[in-house]
Amino acid sequence: VTARSRRVPRPRESYVLLNDRLVPAARATISALDRGFVYGDGLFETFRTYHGAPFGLAQHLARLTRSARVFRMPFRETADDWRPRVRRLLRANRLLEDDAAVRLTISRGAAPFGIVPPRALRPTTLLLATPLDPHLARAQARGVAVCFFPFRVVTARLPGHKTLHYLPAVLGKMIARQRRAWEALYLTAGDAVLEGTTSNVFAVRRGAILTPPLHGVLPGVTRRTVAVVARRSGIPMRERTVTRRDLLRADEVFLTASTIEVLPVVRVAGTRIGDGRPGPITRRLQEGYHRQVAAALAREARP
Ligand SMILES: Cc1ncc(COP(=O)(O)O)c(C=O)c1O
Repeated sequence: VTARSRRVPRPRESYVLLNDRLVPAARATISALDRGFVYGDGLFETFRTYHGAPFGLAQHLARLTRSARVFRMPFRETADDWRPRVRRLLRANRLLEDDAAVRLTISRGAAPFGIVPPRALRPTTLLLATPLDPHLARAQARGVAVCFFPFRVVTARLPGHKTLHYLPAVLGKMIARQRRAWEALYLTAGDAVLEGTTSNVFAVRRGAILTPPLHGVLPGVTRRTVAVVARRSGIPMRERTVTRRDLLRADEVFLTASTIEVLPVVRVAGTRIGDGRPGPITRRLQEGYHRQVAAALAREARP
């Protein structure tokens, strides 16, 4: 061991759970014929763990199983099947004590080239875990900027399912980063705001929360939890079309997703929202969301 290598801490090796086997990430491989790679023929879920415990795992697996049925993939699994695997992966990555983002990807599996899949393929499953974005806490406290995705969304994408077709999200996040924004929001040709590349979007106007209807957006697990928190807090929430103009004139704007929870937006495409700080309703929802998470995890921890 040289003096130099003693000073520089060795990077921790990270592990993935590939088809139920714990493998160092650098050595994990899938077939070149895996349909997830060749056709994007697969689905995924991203959820957050709090000190090793996943929140909303049942809802995430229900969404995945529902989509798997639609796309005719043999995946019918529950939170009880995956909770031990999540713990195993977190332990290997020394993430049990922290909060982490965990992603479960399933693909239809490997098959000879050709769009129509043969029957009886064995799906590939891949579980990844990563520490949360270190800037998240600051972003949650101060709020973030968002921009609009430059292409109008008019194609026949299937926004109700978390398919592996995330190329628009990749581009959207790259553009957002370039503009010093956290997220890019999809707009329709008719100027309706749909959602962020990896988040649902909400506006607050005169004390009421507005969010685009599910037609054209992912039914977010966090979106649903926020609806429960709003109801319990006596804050009216309505699903209705939110235009670009509505968003720019809103009193408050926020995003939701499993990893970011409730994230205040203080700038939309360069326009300041409210007084440029997270608004009171967004704050109440952030607190209510944390209470909801704490209560759910306490319930699950009971023997
Ligand atoms: C397109 C899109 N919308 C919304 C969300 C938020 O979903 P959830 O609250 O289930 O994490 C995501 C999550 O990644 C997403 O990719």
